[in-house]
Amino acid sequence: MKLVNYQEWSAERQSIYGTNTNTVDNKTYFFMNPSVLCDKTHVVNNDITVYFGRDMDGGGTSFAAEMHNVVRYLYPTRVFNNCFEWCSGPGYIGFEMLSRGICNNLFLGEIYKPCVTAIEKTMANLPDKYKNKVSVSHLHCLDVLPGNLEFDLVVSNPPHWNTVGETMASKIKFLDRTSADSDWAIHKNFFINIKKHLAPNGVILLLESSYASGPDSFREFIEAAELTITKVFWKEGANDFYYLEIQHKDH
Ligand SMILES: C[S@@+](CC[C@H](N)C(=O)[O-])C[C@H]1O[C@@H](n2cnc3c(N)ncnc32)[C@H](O)[C@@H]1O
Repeated sequence: MKLVNYQEWSAERQSIYGTNTNTVDNKTYFFMNPSVLCDKTHVVNNDITVYFGRDMDGGGTSFAAEMHNVVRYLYPTRVFNNCFEWCSGPGYIGFEMLSRGICNNLFLGEIYKPCVTAIEKTMANLPDKYKNKVSVSHLHCLDVLPGNLEFDLVVSNPPHWNTVGETMASKIKFLDRTSADSDWAIHKNFFINIKKHLAPNGVILLLESSYASGPDSFREFIEAAELTITKVFWKEGANDFYYLEIQHKDH
């Protein structure tokens, strides 16, 4: 067994995330020097090759297959027309939905430009049957989406940690682009803006960390947006992460 001490661990993390910061809307994110672009692949369903770099995996390579099973379990025969993966990274979850026939069209939204470049590479190499079915937006806020665009499925594995009020250890540990959501600003902004893009019968499925939040962490923002939590659950034996299903209040 090898034990990694904090200095070693922190140096490794810095080598991945770098020490450069970038400020968007008065919030500071750590951005890696994007030197390691799209040199890795994750094959979905023996069908779609998702390209990514080593600073882009926020857990989706393992969560994506599970999330597809969860969606199939919850909505066994439903085919969604427009699926949006928010905070998509390279789009592991979204491409899984497309490849499994869960949605007809896929929209991806991500703040980190190198992930958008990776997605464009994936799109350029898609099997012909998916041509013109995938779009990507480089965004930090949903207000850049066309106003008339409606999604009937929204999936996401967003940054999980509110660094405000957390212990110093978790602030040091999780102050980076993939993990940190300071004062839940990213979540709040999402709930406010997703409402107008959610089809009347649409569902939002968020994967969250049980160590970092619970449904009550978000309930106030969700209800302020006139949405409602309709399910909270996790996969038996895997309670480190839980899912929130959210719909229109009057669904
Ligand atoms: C936990 S990672 C998940 C990445 C990928 N979906 C996965 O499952 O591996 C969270 C992602 O959210 C992105 N992100 C952070 N803030 C964002 C924002 N305001 N808008 C869109 N994406 C954001 C990060 O760059 C990161 O790729």
